[in-house]
Amino acid sequence: MKVVAVENFADPGFSADLIGWQKVHGRHTLPWQNTRDAYLVWLSEIMLQQTQVSAVLGYYARFLERFPTLRDLAAAPVEEVMAQWSGLGYYTRARNLHKCAQRVVAEYDGVFPSDPLLLAELPGIGRSTAAAIAAFSAGRRAAIMDGNVKRVFARVFGIDTYPGEKKTEEAMWRRAEALLPEQGIESYTQGLMDMGATLCTRSSPSCERCPMQARCVAFNTGRTRDLPVRKPKKATPEKHAVMLAMVDGRQVLLEQRPPSGIWGGLLSLPELEGHVAAGDDEVAEADHDALLGAVGKFGEMESYERLSTVTHVFTHYKLYIAPYRITLSRRLALAAESGHVWLDAAAIGNAALPAPVKKLLLELVGDSNAAQQRMF
Ligand code: ADE
Repeated sequence: MKVVAVENFADPGFSADLIGWQKVHGRHTLPWQNTRDAYLVWLSEIMLQQTQVSAVLGYYARFLERFPTLRDLAAAPVEEVMAQWSGLGYYTRARNLHKCAQRVVAEYDGVFPSDPLLLAELPGIGRSTAAAIAAFSAGRRAAIMDGNVKRVFARVFGIDTYPGEKKTEEAMWRRAEALLPEQGIESYTQGLMDMGATLCTRSSPSCERCPMQARCVAFNTGRTRDLPVRKPKKATPEKHAVMLAMVDGRQVLLEQRPPSGIWGGLLSLPELEGHVAAGDDEVAEADHDALLGAVGKFGEMESYERLSTVTHVFTHYKLYIAPYRITLSRRLALAAESGHVWLDAAAIGNAALPAPVKKLLLELVGDSNAAQQRMF
């Protein structure tokens, strides 16, 4: 039998506490408040997308001086709208603002619809902005959802999955709908915004003043700092290399790397082509025949030994090096143009070698010197 978990996000105490708090401690004198004029509300909500109240105040006043009504804005050349917006950033907003004004004039005779679904079809108005405009200008019950609301919800309800992830975001929307109060949508919506901006801030929330303290899962479990959870880091990609430490007496064979790519132009150990690891957390390995083939143009392989895997972390990936120490019984002359050199053990410390390769070789020298008084 399939068991389906039933969501019950309803919680009338949440909106009652929030509205009570907003009425006493919330913001009431912002220039776009205390009006039901949809033009004034819409303009503020567009300007407040991705922009703080303090940055918007001056622009809002100047914009309304220049474009006192929706029809003034719709009739203005777009260049003038852009000029008024200049400095506020995210300029697509200004272009959409102008388009939206023209659409409302053309399609709604200059009066914004109050239905959030119709508002959300207009340029620059997403689901959350539509809800805010509908709530503030028409008292419509509609849910907002932005970064601040996600943070408040994640903490109050102890949501410990990443809010940017689709499933979590969808559940947050359903929760936001279920929490809407029957009465007082304006104070409720403003309360959510005020809480997110003034109390439940990202890095230093004022829990001692918060009306949600008693019900806040994050506060009550000491997880305020950990919620909302941060964007999960993508797993670091892994690369693998089989490196050949061919040794002959007191010298090691090195190869000049191509000028571009990692370690461009440095000397490094020759690598075995085409050897990749079979799966995650596995390391590439080489077999006897592959080693014989790779070593053949440099000399005769007497024996080989798999050395410990070396892990090197780059900013964008992790490299696993499977090193093989190859002992040669005979060494062939290097082709003049081959880009290979035999380097003396004593020169390793000062050679232009990638750090992990240098470390590997120095360890090899140290080991072998101690064990057998000869290099490698
Ligand atoms: N951010 C988005 N809308 C807002 C509003 N109406 N008041 C304050 N901050 C907001």
